[in-house]
Amino acid sequence: MRVLGIESSCDETAVAVYDEIDGLLSHRLYSQVAMHQAYGGVVPELASRDHVRRLLPLVRQALADAHSDKDSIDGVAYTAGPGLIGALLVGASFATALGVAWRKPALGIHHLEGHLLAPLLEPKPPAFPFLALLVSGGHTQLVDVAALGSYRIVGETLDDAAGEAFDKTAKLLGLPYPGGAALATLAESGRSGQFVFPKPMLDRPGLDFSFSGLKTAALVALRGRDLLPTVRADIARGFQEAVVETLAEKCRRALLQTGHRRLVIAGGVGANRRLRERLAAVGTDLGAEVYFPRTEFCTDNGAMIALAGCLRLKAGMRSGLGMSARANWELGSIGV
Ligand code: KG4
Ligand code: ZN
Repeated sequence: MRVLGIESSCDETAVAVYDEIDGLLSHRLYSQVAMHQAYGGVVPELASRDHVRRLLPLVRQALADAHSDKDSIDGVAYTAGPGLIGALLVGASFATALGVAWRKPALGIHHLEGHLLAPLLEPKPPAFPFLALLVSGGHTQLVDVAALGSYRIVGETLDDAAGEAFDKTAKLLGLPYPGGAALATLAESGRSGQFVFPKPMLDRPGLDFSFSGLKTAALVALRGRDLLPTVRADIARGFQEAVVETLAEKCRRALLQTGHRRLVIAGGVGANRRLRERLAAVGTDLGAEVYFPRTEFCTDNGAMIALAGCLRLKAGMRSGLGMSARANWELGSIGV
């Protein structure tokens, strides 16, 4: 079974070929970051138009890299949501058309299912069941994963996602869009303890998150100060510590509550070095295995979509057949 995967839910056009026996055969990605940077954020219409421009050349390249053609491909998987609707429609209509032309099934994949299966691309993949921490630009969720397609949300953010908090605070610190990774780099040179941010929701029981107060705390910390590089780095450090400690503590609680012995980290914020360190320590503490995708597969990519498509096709899950694009789509409702 060999699947072509297409991701176009936001500002990355990404394509990959995944084979059930040989694993990942190729992956290509075009980032639109430079184009959106001038606007300080993603401009949906520009994103859609650029996906139209990039998709076909990327598919040709990914197929060539994988020494594959339409005859060796068994299915075309695409991100059906959630995401920017125009951007999703580009990938969905392209993949559906390809499926019709090649007489192969086209499968709509939930973007977050792709993220949480991404650690399965690594040499030591986690077995089901596991607990997943999904930390992206749009979502922060703790997911009880019983099996492929069986996802129960046990905790989620009540307001901003962790990545969104990183991006908004980065903007306050004068860092260019998308600021998450840049803020993390700045935090490396900051001093611990100079700015102590509140750790949201740690003082009450439960597994939900709230990050919107942190950008206000950052604003208060910045007010009336010269934006000296050292001060900015100290604030970045304090902010990052608050987010990381909160995520680590909630993972600890969720592991204890669910009894899972495997923790999977997925989504763009999973690329954060400090978060990876802290979660590895939580795992050691509780005797749980912790699994991360390599950093390039934490952020959006086509490999996770090709993999999810391959696993679904192999399991005979064809519910994604028929073109679908949904801006909002609950992970807990997708089923098999
Ligand atoms: O999963 P992703 O690529 O896209 C969504 O599905 O949202 O996640 C992007 C998010 C952005 O908010 C970005 O700032 C954040 O992941 N991010 C990071 C790091 N790298 C990316 N946040 C913290 N530290 C990083 N190293
Ligand atoms: Zn994503």
